[in-house]
Amino acid sequence: MEPIWRGLASKLVNFNPNYGGVTVLVLGAMGSGKTHLLLNIAAKKVYEARELCVWRGLLHAQAYQYFPDIFIHVKSGYTLPVYDEVFTMWPRLRRGCLNVVYAPDDWWLEYLLELSERVGEEPMSVFIDEFEDIAPSYSEGDTWHQLQDLSRALRAFRKAWVNFYVATQNWEAIDYRILNKFVYRVYLPGARRMRRSPVRQAYINRLSLGEFIVEERGAIFTGTPVRFPPMPHVRKPIKLKLMSAKEPIIPEEKVVLVAEDYSPVPYPKQLINTGADRR
Ligand SMILES: Nc1ncnc2c1ncn2[C@@H]1O[C@H](COP(=O)(O)OP(=O)(O)OP(=O)(O)O)[C@@H](O)[C@H]1O
Ligand SMILES: [Mg+2]
Repeated sequence: MEPIWRGLASKLVNFNPNYGGVTVLVLGAMGSGKTHLLLNIAAKKVYEARELCVWRGLLHAQAYQYFPDIFIHVKSGYTLPVYDEVFTMWPRLRRGCLNVVYAPDDWWLEYLLELSERVGEEPMSVFIDEFEDIAPSYSEGDTWHQLQDLSRALRAFRKAWVNFYVATQNWEAIDYRILNKFVYRVYLPGARRMRRSPVRQAYINRLSLGEFIVEERGAIFTGTPVRFPPMPHVRKPIKLKLMSAKEPIIPEEKVVLVAEDYSPVPYPKQLINTGADRR
């Protein structure tokens, strides 16, 4: 008989309408492949599932370096050396490419709350690398309250059909109210086992680069490590620093390297999805 953990890794990427959106926390030491794993999942979502995919843009611009088809959105009031479109409230997501969004951390909190209220008629995926910036432990004031809302939003993602993938080096840097909402945990080399996890630290310690363990929170986990490849370089390394700007500057270089059949999904359809744009 097949062991019950066999289908675990595929649950991370294969959307099941009977279950809804998945929430996935990727843990691993510095350089353990967290970003490459997120990019691998994003590639499956963009090219195979053809889901709308949102990626949080960061200074080191790894999506730019490693993802073939990207579309860079920047929040109005800010600018970047390279971008495709400025948005005022929410980005207009494109299909067939990774929507890399550059915006300040507090905007991300609002966006995630907004997405949690979406009517799930079509699955989408959101990727947040270095998640501790968005949901830090020991927050104060307004952020503390917003994180309370985010913890509720995480639960709502399932019905809103938002697949939510985040990565961090150290789970203790993330607010505990949010930490315990993730249904899947992925351990990469050097990860520290979470409390009450059935996965032993010794098992994690045997992982090599390019391998991971998936745990369904507190229950089953993959009995043999799962392998994934590194993403090949597609563009030169650059840094994309989000800068404030009164007037958005016209970028010298536009990226717009999206798949030929991409279709822009206008706001607000992507949030309040009618399914009309479904392929
Ligand atoms: N599956 C893999 N197989 C082999 N090498 C890999 C794999 N994934 C990533 N690497 C290599 O490991 C290095 C680190 O990968 P990555 O940037 O994804 O790690 P990280 O955990 O995100 O690191 P950081 O903590 O710095 O954010 C990269 O140079 C990459 O080429
Ligand atoms: Mg990384």
